[in-house]
Amino acid sequence: MSPQRLKLYNWHKWAGITILTLSLLRLLWRLTHRPPADVPMPDWQRKTSHAVHLLLYGLFFAVPLAGWAYSSAAGFPIVVFGVIPLPDFVAPDKEFAEAIKPVHKILAYSLAALVLGHVAAAFKHHFVDRDGLLDRMRPGRA
Ligand code: HEM
Repeated sequence: MSPQRLKLYNWHKWAGITILTLSLLRLLWRLTHRPPADVPMPDWQRKTSHAVHLLLYGLFFAVPLAGWAYSSAAGFPIVVFGVIPLPDFVAPDKEFAEAIKPVHKILAYSLAALVLGHVAAAFKHHFVDRDGLLDRMRPGRA
């Protein structure tokens, strides 16, 4: 593997571990703080949005953990920012590494698709329906 490719893999892993840490902080915040009241919308939209949010939270953890598992199983240690060594998430195991690799990929693309849908739906509410959905994100609205 070229040094450039190795560097990009490492940056990718550091970004992924940072996302995992931020997801944990976000989940703790969400569990201890109530969001502002929903804007009025049809029942199917409310149910769909709640299902998407649940899936997003699941993937925030599943994607980086699958990446970490792949890296450990393939025998590559992770040293975050080149200074914080992480323990192996799973024991080295070539067969498991080959099995989890496509899982990481599929989950990552699913996360990207969900994020796009989530953003598109939020913009549709705010700019087409003009229901003030994005104002719920302003500070002091909880
Ligand atoms: C939210 C965080 C993450 C996202 C969105 C993500 C996304 C992706 C994507 C899209 C690919 C390319 C798949 C392909 O097209 O072949 C990939 C590959 C890879 N990821 Fe992640 N990743 C994340 C976190 C991590 C973490 C935390 C690690 C390890 C600590 C990791 C390790 C890897 C490795 C080693 C590959 C290369 C697999 C191969 O050899 O083809 N990823 N990731």
